[in-house]
Amino acid sequence: MLFSGLAEVGDDPILQVSTMYKASNDPNKVDLGVGVYKDADGNTAILKSVKKAEQYLVDHQDTKTYLSPAGNPEFNRLVQDMLIGADHPAVGENRVSTYQTPGGTGGVRIGLDFVKACNPNANVWISNPTWPNHTAITKSLGLNPKQYRYYDIKQGVFQYQEMFEDLSGAEEGDVVILHGCCHNASGADLTNAQWDELAAMMLEKGLVPLVDFAYQGFGDGIEEDTYAAKIMSTKLPEALIASSCSKNFAMYRDRAGAITLVSSDATEHKKNASHMLSAVRATYSMPPDHGAAVVAHILGTPALKAEWIAEVDEMRERVKKMRHLFVEKMNEKAPNSGFGYIAEQKGMFSYLTLTAEQIQTLINKHSIFFMGNGRVNVAGLTEKNIDYVTDAVASLFRS
Ligand code: LMR
Repeated sequence: MLFSGLAEVGDDPILQVSTMYKASNDPNKVDLGVGVYKDADGNTAILKSVKKAEQYLVDHQDTKTYLSPAGNPEFNRLVQDMLIGADHPAVGENRVSTYQTPGGTGGVRIGLDFVKACNPNANVWISNPTWPNHTAITKSLGLNPKQYRYYDIKQGVFQYQEMFEDLSGAEEGDVVILHGCCHNASGADLTNAQWDELAAMMLEKGLVPLVDFAYQGFGDGIEEDTYAAKIMSTKLPEALIASSCSKNFAMYRDRAGAITLVSSDATEHKKNASHMLSAVRATYSMPPDHGAAVVAHILGTPALKAEWIAEVDEMRERVKKMRHLFVEKMNEKAPNSGFGYIAEQKGMFSYLTLTAEQIQTLINKHSIFFMGNGRVNVAGLTEKNIDYVTDAVASLFRS
């Protein structure tokens, strides 16, 4: 029988945390698992700017006929502008295109599908640690995953030198997945000077960046967070940027994202673009409309765009505040617990530098749900649950 004989595969480890959280009956349970933003009341609310854009679409959208494999052209233009700027040299040279995809995951998938068309045996370098789906997508396409050191979870140390060293051993044409900002899962980012140095080394070695840019706005700001995407796509002749509107527009389930392709010249780009669109057509034919239509309306309406940026700023500042509050409380409750680094890191995630046993105690005894490797979604902390969480973490440091 064709359908018998498969071994069962486990859920993705992030989705497992959501399942455990939902199954728990503990009234004190805390969800620090999947990367969604939560407000001070613990809700993942719809942004006001998004609601206004949705109302606009209800009133004005007059057809639901097919888009095209490339998706909404206005969305593509405005998102590209937000990622790399309309003054990017590749724009004037007709060697960059952005395609709407179902979420940032769709962007990574189509980007790697395109890599496969270029070289079916390509090596894809992935940070250790990373978002588990990077490896899953690479493997499911039959590409060859390789790891570069990035963050020592046990010691809580960013490993830039080690990253540089590992990538120096990559071969010409290898693809390197880089986190554009707010590294998922460590929250440890390169400085601008380190991005410059890395781009120079990658240029010299002929490596190709795939910048996964899922948290734009959660580091330092929408514009401030573009440094890596811009440097990698200007200093290097070829680049891919997978981007997501899930977090910064809080439109998780609407699956709005994009893949941006930069080729070395306009002639190559025309051919490359045809492969990109053929990968889309063979995978899901065309992306879904709604999320991208909302984003296009917001980005294309100056007053609404300003309102949205203020909402992104508010989300980012709340997460930062919770990072500081966590460190402050831990300093009071367990002075030698050593979590100071959490205040310096960026975006939704950080690791709690704890033993596997301590992590299991927090999950099983205190119903604080997060990844078994210690990754927490800091955006799940609120003023209401911070004492519960920090009391539980502090209890691990008492003998
Ligand atoms: C996460 O890392 O938790 C998010 O990117 C959500 C996801 O799809 O895994």
